[in-house]
Amino acid sequence: MVRDDVLRTLEEHRGELISGGTLARELGVSRTAIWKAVSTLREMGFPITSTAGEGYRLDEASDALSEAGIAMELTTQYAARNLCVLSTVDSTNNYLKQRAAELPNGYAAVADCQTAGRGRLGRNFLSPSGSGIYMSLLLRPQIPLERIHLLTVGAAIAACEAIQETADFTPDIKWVNDVLMHGKKLCGILTEASVEAETGQLSYAIVGIGINVRTPASGLAPEIAEIAGCLEDFAPHPVRRNALAASFFNHMESCCDLIASGDTEALIDRYRSFIHFLGQPITVIRFDQREEATAVGIDSSGHLIIEQNGQRSTLVAGEISIRLPEQLR
Ligand code: BTN
Repeated sequence: MVRDDVLRTLEEHRGELISGGTLARELGVSRTAIWKAVSTLREMGFPITSTAGEGYRLDEASDALSEAGIAMELTTQYAARNLCVLSTVDSTNNYLKQRAAELPNGYAAVADCQTAGRGRLGRNFLSPSGSGIYMSLLLRPQIPLERIHLLTVGAAIAACEAIQETADFTPDIKWVNDVLMHGKKLCGILTEASVEAETGQLSYAIVGIGINVRTPASGLAPEIAEIAGCLEDFAPHPVRRNALAASFFNHMESCCDLIASGDTEALIDRYRSFIHFLGQPITVIRFDQREEATAVGIDSSGHLIIEQNGQRSTLVAGEISIRLPEQLR
């Protein structure tokens, strides 16, 4: 479509002026077709300025989400190679779940805003427009069910690596999959799966992630103001959501490939590189009971090894959560 080709070219030359004639020549269409495409893109919210007789420029500071803007930074074989960008949706996880039967492996839904974003344990996930990015990835890995939890581990790794790459700081992972900076939660991950009842095989998994990029104009909602943080609170420069999304998909695909190949040691090594609380005292919360322990390590399945009264044990995610000491939050 001419519109997408124009957007791709403007994205590639973000901040630079390109003449209508050059665009028309490069894309093999008329100047009128270029003008129409630019008008549509503006209506869609892309800040494109034009200078009479000189050409068009996509505003350097634009952070509008677009399929072309994400696609041009992908290095994947399958993750997000088919994708849709939605301005509003109830939930990107719901969007994929409703269409899973007809969508290919790696299909991604990315939204600027969710009206019914879902979190873990049936909670809501607030997803206002312009301030975050909400993404879901449909995967059909050929893996045994015991390895499904590693998709969530992979999503936490991919989020941290994407943040390093596009926001230039290194966050922490609090076991299992909380991505934090100075104790503030930067993103939420919700992995859902469908299992074939007859064979007990994984039919598909949907990995959903919401990342807080900047504080919404109206401020953080009171219920999350104390616990949540945004990438731009810590990044030395503005963060572009298209680049963040592409980087997440690039790293997520490499994690999926490690999980599918069974090389979980390599995956867990990447996970450990973001875990900074080992050797420290923690509080383990199990069915509302609190116990003190020392965090010792992460085993090759991603489980947490703790020590209590000289005895080591392994915690499996699910009904257990942990609290870190104040200075590590
Ligand atoms: C949590 O922290 O409880 C998990 C939140 C997961 C939110 C993401 S945003 C994209 C995807 N769509 C949803 O409805 N939820 C996930």
